[in-house]
Amino acid sequence: MDIKEITGYVDPASVPKKVLYTGCEIPALGIGTFGSDKYGAQEISEAVYGAVCGGYRLIDCASVYQNEKEIGATLRKLFDDKVVTREELFITGKVWNDMHGDGEVIRSCEQSLEDLGLDYLDLYLVHWPFPNYHAPGCGGDSRNPDSRPFFADEFMAVWRQCEQLVSDGKVRHIGMSNMTIPKLELVLPQCRIQPAAIEMELHPGFQQPELFQYVQEHDIVPIGYCPLGSPSRPERDRTAEDVSDMEMPEIAEAAKAHNVHPAVICLKWAVQNGQIPIPFSVKPKQYLDNLKCVTEDPLTEEEMEKIRKADKGCRLVKGQVFLWPGAKSWKDLWDLDGHIKGWED
Ligand SMILES: NC(=O)c1ccc[n+]([C@@H]2O[C@H](COP(=O)([O-])OP(=O)(O)OC[C@H]3O[C@@H](n4cnc5c(N)ncnc54)[C@H](OP(=O)(O)O)[C@@H]3O)[C@@H](O)[C@H]2O)c1
Repeated sequence: MDIKEITGYVDPASVPKKVLYTGCEIPALGIGTFGSDKYGAQEISEAVYGAVCGGYRLIDCASVYQNEKEIGATLRKLFDDKVVTREELFITGKVWNDMHGDGEVIRSCEQSLEDLGLDYLDLYLVHWPFPNYHAPGCGGDSRNPDSRPFFADEFMAVWRQCEQLVSDGKVRHIGMSNMTIPKLELVLPQCRIQPAAIEMELHPGFQQPELFQYVQEHDIVPIGYCPLGSPSRPERDRTAEDVSDMEMPEIAEAAKAHNVHPAVICLKWAVQNGQIPIPFSVKPKQYLDNLKCVTEDPLTEEEMEKIRKADKGCRLVKGQVFLWPGAKSWKDLWDLDGHIKGWED
C-alpha cells in the first residue's frame, strides 16, 4: 500500500476514547513500537508515519526499544507535512530499569524528549518495578548478579522523580507497568500523584481479571500489551506451554462469524472489555485493519462472554531475565500467592 491509500483510512474521530482521571482523553487503541528483535528502528519509524497518516493518535514508546531517535524524525516529518499537530497525539514513554537512581529518571525522560523531539510526553511509565537491568536482546537464561527483589522505598524514589516530571511540565501523566496487586497496595497510598494508567499484559489467553478489576476500581486506565499474544516475540519469551491466542477456538469461531482475521477479534474484544490495546505491526494492511476494526461491527455479548470464559492464565512475558540470585522461578516476580517475594526468603 502506498501512503496515498493509507492516508485517511480511519477517521481518528471515529476511534473510541477513554478518559483519564485528569479528564484528558486517550484513544482506545494505539500502536506499539517494540520490534521484538525482529524489526529495525527505521522500519518501525516508517510504520509510525503510516499509522498516524492512517488515523492512529496513540503511540507507545520506550527508551529500551532503541528507536526513539528514528521515531522522533518521523514525528518531525508528520508535523512538517501537517499530517497532525503535537496536541492531537498521545505519546507514551517509559524509563528503563537501569535508570532508576537518584536523578536518573529525570535524565532518562529528558533524553527521550530530546530523541523524540518533543517538549512533553502525555504519559511516562515506570517500565518495570525494580532496577534489574538486562542488556536488550540478551538470552532468556541470562542473569544479572546485581538484580534484587521489589523494594517499595526504592520504587517510591523512582515515583518521586516521575512526580517531579509532572511538576516540571515535562510529562502530563505518570503511570506504572508490570505491577501486581500486592505491590500496588504498598505504593498507591504513598503516591502524591496517582498513576493515570497501568500497562499490563492482556490478551484473551491472559486476562488478569483480579488486577484488571483492581486498577479500574482505582480509576486507573489499563493499557494492554501483547494484545495479539505477541506472535513475533523474541525466543527468550517463548515456552512450550504458551497458548497462541489467535488459534484459540473461541477467537477462531468469532473470526469466522465476522469474516475477519483472528487478530481483529482480539482487538475488538480488548476495546469492548475496557483496556487500551497497543498492537504492534509494521505492515500497513495489518496496522490499518487493527485500528479500523474497533470502529465497526462489534462482538456480541455472547462472543464477549465466551472469550471471557476462555482465559488460560497464560503469561507470555514472564520476565525471567529480571530474577535475582536465589529466586526460584519467574513466578517469584508476580506475587502469585499475594506476597511480594524476595526479602523474607
Ligand atoms: N510495558 C511492557 O513491559 C511491554 C511489554 C511488551 C510489549 N509492550 C508494548 O506492547 C506492544 C505490543 O506488544 P507486542 O508487539 O509484543 O505484541 P502484539 O501486538 O500482541 O503482536 C505483534 C505481532 O502481531 C502480528 N500482527 C499484528 N497485527 C496483525 C494482524 N492484523 N493480523 C495478523 N497478525 C498481526 C505481527 O506479526 P508479524 O511480525 O509476523 O507480522 C506483529 O509483529 C509493543 O510493541 C510495545 O509497545 C510493552
